[in-house]
Amino acid sequence: MIRINDNYLKLEASYLFAEMARRTEAFEAEHPERPLIRLGIGDVTEPLPAACLEALHRAVDELGHRETFRGYGTSEGYPFLRESIVEGDFASRGVEMSPDAIFVSDGAKGDTGGIQEIFTTDTKVAVPDPIYPVYVDTNVMAGRAGSAVKGRYTDLVYLDGTRENDYISQIPNEPVDLIYLCFPNNPTGATATTEQLQGWVNYARECGAVILFDAAYEAYIRDPKLPHSIFELEGAKEVAIEFRSFSKTAGFTGTRCAYTIVPPEVTAQDAKGQKHSLQRLWYRRQSTKSNGVSYPIQRAAAAAYSDEGQKQISVLIDFYLENARIIREGMIHLGYSCVGGDNSPYIWVYTGEDSWASFDRLLKTAGVVCSPGVGFGTGGEGHLRFSAFNSRENVEEAIARLKEAL
Ligand code: MLT
Repeated sequence: MIRINDNYLKLEASYLFAEMARRTEAFEAEHPERPLIRLGIGDVTEPLPAACLEALHRAVDELGHRETFRGYGTSEGYPFLRESIVEGDFASRGVEMSPDAIFVSDGAKGDTGGIQEIFTTDTKVAVPDPIYPVYVDTNVMAGRAGSAVKGRYTDLVYLDGTRENDYISQIPNEPVDLIYLCFPNNPTGATATTEQLQGWVNYARECGAVILFDAAYEAYIRDPKLPHSIFELEGAKEVAIEFRSFSKTAGFTGTRCAYTIVPPEVTAQDAKGQKHSLQRLWYRRQSTKSNGVSYPIQRAAAAAYSDEGQKQISVLIDFYLENARIIREGMIHLGYSCVGGDNSPYIWVYTGEDSWASFDRLLKTAGVVCSPGVGFGTGGEGHLRFSAFNSRENVEEAIARLKEAL
């Protein structure tokens, strides 16, 4: 009889956000009279920037005429978008990047989850803890993580982000092959300095490792000293792949558009020790598995780089950052210690209590949904994550309710 991939049975529990949704829906079904405020999953609430919306409408209309109709695009994205990305996100920060390094996709989740396919099964993987669960789960599915013991997998190297190290994972004492980093961090909101990231790049170069750098929240960086891209660091192009997204930047969580940067210099070796370009492998993988992102969505994403688009996005991010400030200050006022929320839309709150129990308590007593820290790894136990993605009215109401309930 046909057999399943047994690795799926090693997945610890249901996917974090699915379990949060299950508990929330069960509560709503029992208490339809209690309107909930959702500060759990980081899903944007404000409408698309006008420049993106107008470009989307125009592109949809183009599809209604034979002369401007488009069928299949390329798996890696239209040149107009890849060139805008290079100009707007890299040249503008003094980083030289070729459009060939840019692979447009329908989401950083799919890319950060799929990238591990191009590496061998016995790759030694290092993951921060706590961290976005997709990195761990996709390696478990691929059979690279070993078995779960008390919430951790035996074959992964965990990089602890703790209160003591300000939630910045330290470089391990042993060599590893693949390192996941995320800054501004999801879930903690912590940011890494140029010196800290340079340390990671140097380490990767020394041990022949590759860094997978998730920069989905870089647009929230307001501190001018902080790097936005790993490619701002010396020597990074030979050892790093970066993931970016329009989701949290331009409100594309529903419309879907992201991109991955694989420079031509980054390589890994085959079983015989011969080096291969990861850009070529990723191209091969993407062109086999995807026909790319739809034309109207890519036009909408490209409009984010127009002058108007940039101004509108800046207003949007300032809006969410002000929400983040209200949440952070509200939690501090309640006596909790917090990180994040200044260069990030997430606020990471230390409660010292069982995090699913805290999640349930806030849901039941305040009608506020947050994310339990342990859902991001054992290192998240004793914490809650609040997302700043909601209306101002709801954020203010959530803090008022928390003040009353706690
Ligand atoms: C989160 O809440 O961590 C994000 O929304 C997850 C994601 O972007 O997939």
